[in-house]
Amino acid sequence: MKILVINGPNINMLGVREPEIYGNLTLDTIQNELIEYSKNFEGVELEFFQSNIEGEIVSKIQNSLNEKDGIIINPAAYTHTSVAILDAIKAVKIPTVEVHLSNVNSREDFRKISFVSSASIGVVAGFKQNSYKMALFGLYNYLNE
Ligand code: DQA
Repeated sequence: MKILVINGPNINMLGVREPEIYGNLTLDTIQNELIEYSKNFEGVELEFFQSNIEGEIVSKIQNSLNEKDGIIINPAAYTHTSVAILDAIKAVKIPTVEVHLSNVNSREDFRKISFVSSASIGVVAGFKQNSYKMALFGLYNYLNE
């Protein structure tokens, strides 16, 4: 089971960026924790991709067609703006889980709007690095149903 984990803009700044909201862990540490956690699920192969550029994320999703079984995505700020990422997920029809480190619903009003949610099988928000693990748990079970 091949799963692509996508992180959007400024997620590469974790560890430095607003630690009171996003925690102290770097993206590398979060990804390594997820690799460890994925060993609980037989046959899971993770690939990681981070970009600050919307079009690169769109292309990565397009290139996953017939290559990946599932996608875990933290679209970061593009969550709240990107019709292009929404359309890419709809185009490839790969089961996708939307993830956020923070609880976007308890923050500013503009963060309560997600363009990506309507194309996602589920959303996990507010559990910092554990949001990714919960997403993997949900996606793995969904794909095995
Ligand atoms: C975020 C929440 C977004 O609103 C924000 O723009 C981010 C990170 C999160 O993981 O909590 O960059 O997606």
